[in-house]
Amino acid sequence: MKFFVDTADVPAIAELNDLGMVDGVTTNPSLIAKSGRDILEVTREICAMVSGPVSAEVTATDADTMIAEGRKLAKIADNIAVKVPLTWDGLKACKTLSSEGNMVNVTLCFSVNQAILAAKAGATFISPFIGRLDDINLDGLQLIEDIRVVYDNYGFDTQILAASIRTANHIADCAKIGADVITAPPAVIKSMASHVLTDKGLDAFLKDIASAGIKIL
Ligand code: E4P
Repeated sequence: MKFFVDTADVPAIAELNDLGMVDGVTTNPSLIAKSGRDILEVTREICAMVSGPVSAEVTATDADTMIAEGRKLAKIADNIAVKVPLTWDGLKACKTLSSEGNMVNVTLCFSVNQAILAAKAGATFISPFIGRLDDINLDGLQLIEDIRVVYDNYGFDTQILAASIRTANHIADCAKIGADVITAPPAVIKSMASHVLTDKGLDAFLKDIASAGIKIL
């Protein structure tokens, strides 16, 4: 399973990247706005740091402008994946940009039918949003499972990039289902290391280290 980091926070990406935890990065307009940085500048910086795909999202809603923006974003670096929304115009842009040899991430996917269309339009990645479905009492993980079945039924090679991940449990469940990639905020990825029994066990060891005066260095 590949790990993408869902942020435009460069120091946070660097920390995980140094540990070998970063196979790619996803950004979106909200994350760029949160960074307070210029989209082209921050995206260039991330692309130089990370060798895997870096998703950068278009801002237009019509296909022609999305294609023009996508071509400009793709010039930033070889590892750019142009991110387009799952609208009819977004699918047109996906078809054109992927036919030109660019990686394309089709985002804001909330149904199996949308995922089928993205695969047929040549998407490199499809981004189903788990958390936002859960937010409205639908089942985000079920959507990942259903897309996995359908893509495998027909041998679609579009990669399932599970997005809108809110908890470490989402990541474990995506791994069991067979999502190709997860993208999660740095804090969620780091929280995968936490376990109450690890903390409890370490506390007990530290007490014994102190009482026995155990020293290594
Ligand atoms: C990633 O590509 C998505 O933009 C992101 O995961 C959305 O997450 P959110 O629903 O927590 O904003």
